[in-house]
Amino acid sequence: MAKWEFGRLWQTLIYFDVIPVINCWQKIFQRDRAIKSKQETNMVILVAGATGGVGKRVVKRLLEQNYQVRALVRDINRAKNILGEGVDLFEADITIPETLKPAMMRGVRAVICCTGTKVQPVEGDTPTREKYYQGVKFYLPEVVDIPELVEYEGIKNLVKVVAQHIPTADDRLIFDFTHPNAQIKETWGAVDDVVMGGVSQSNIRLADNKAIFSGVVSTDNNGGFASVRTRNFSIPLDLSDYEGIELKVTGDGKRYKFITRCEGKWDGVGYCHSFDTVYNFPTTIRIPFKNLIPVFRAKTVSQASQIDASKIYSMQLMLSKFEYDGELNPNFEAGSFAIEIEQIKAYGGKVKPQFIQVSSAGVTRPSRPGINLENEPPAVAMNEQLGGILTWKLRGEEVIKASGLTYTIIRPCALTEQPGNKILYAEQGDNLKGQVSRDAVAQLCIQAMNLPAAVNKTFEVKEEPRSGKNNYQKLFSGLS
Ligand SMILES: NC(=O)c1ccc[n+]([C@@H]2O[C@H](COP(=O)([O-])OP(=O)(O)OC[C@H]3O[C@@H](n4cnc5c(N)ncnc54)[C@H](OP(=O)(O)O)[C@@H]3O)[C@@H](O)[C@H]2O)c1
Repeated sequence: MAKWEFGRLWQTLIYFDVIPVINCWQKIFQRDRAIKSKQETNMVILVAGATGGVGKRVVKRLLEQNYQVRALVRDINRAKNILGEGVDLFEADITIPETLKPAMMRGVRAVICCTGTKVQPVEGDTPTREKYYQGVKFYLPEVVDIPELVEYEGIKNLVKVVAQHIPTADDRLIFDFTHPNAQIKETWGAVDDVVMGGVSQSNIRLADNKAIFSGVVSTDNNGGFASVRTRNFSIPLDLSDYEGIELKVTGDGKRYKFITRCEGKWDGVGYCHSFDTVYNFPTTIRIPFKNLIPVFRAKTVSQASQIDASKIYSMQLMLSKFEYDGELNPNFEAGSFAIEIEQIKAYGGKVKPQFIQVSSAGVTRPSRPGINLENEPPAVAMNEQLGGILTWKLRGEEVIKASGLTYTIIRPCALTEQPGNKILYAEQGDNLKGQVSRDAVAQLCIQAMNLPAAVNKTFEVKEEPRSGKNNYQKLFSGLS
């Protein structure tokens, strides 16, 4: 009979923060734990044009809302000064396709694109673009870049890469073991029957493009299970918009359990599903949330309610001698085992926008028959002198619409540096004139990204004179 090891129990309890005193010490020594915790699950938002007036505000707000942000920037050193810490910087130029490498899209579930042709006062601008942003005094503008390249060719290049690499709009990738990283490694750990006196032993290893949960399961000392589990997510996942969890695995013919929890306890009710694997054959397992069985230590909890998918705290994979309520796992055999895991994702979600584009009000007006340019804002009246910015922006919009991506195209009126605290007014048909704060547009982009009602909508937006809280659901639902 193998010997029970207290040391392994101790290690497990420490790893999963079950012992609060030790946990405190750990936190002192792991200063950056809080930063890492937001990156433990895979959901990156890519912001293009992140150093611009709208882009930097999108980044700031995303970080405040605990998103993992990747910023597409032209100059990393400049971007560091503007965006600070906590952002993954990716140097690229949308007009140069070779710079838009697939790595830019790793883990990305939505793109917020705030790029735009650089415009500046003819007499030159300050390094921080104060004159250009001011919007009080009118400076005669000139373009610095070529609009056809930035607004059309650039968007074509970007959209192509995004469409190739973004997951389908109704899925949400949670753990992508095909691209393992340090965060994943810090999130998963073994919980074997050593916690109740057993001697089974397992671990999770990250290989090139998969994770391998393997070990030896033993029934000695009344044991009989081995498992790997995530530490509790510091911010629980809200998967309430999805139908369930999908696992992509290659197993060894044994029956395993997937367990998830909707409370932050170490040893509370787990929601469980058993699944069979085929020896050395890739298998996709879909587990609807409604089919998960509430269990406490392998005993079903009849009075427990269905899982609350709006707060998922942890995930676990287990090989156990037991099914539920004392019944045995029909495919169980003590000894060594191994299952490879490629991905864990949420499936069956409500479709949300994958590509949010900050375009401009007025894009259709320069070519509109009978338009009186004297009554139009400078961007429309000066479209030709400015290299056809609006004309090329419209062509860029067409690219996005043709890409098959789900999108939201926001066409703001004149942008200001005012705080974004006003009520927004949205319209379609491209007749709107007025102003809107860059801050409000940034917030609108983030809201659009999360609202199914924003899918495939194109609209103009300005702000009303009155302040107040916006009802974004209502704003998007009111559009066709
Ligand atoms: N100004 C207005 O009143 C107004 C009104 C309606 C709509 N818009 C549009 O709204 C959008 C956002 O406006 P904004 O004020 O935030 O613009 P902005 O401050 O000029 O920012 C534009 C961003 O695009 C980036 N960019 C330009 N060319 C690029 C390229 N080839 N590759 C990668 N990035 C590139 C710039 O990068 P760098 O930082 O490296 O230069 C910058 O970060 C723009 O499309 C603008 O045309 C403006």
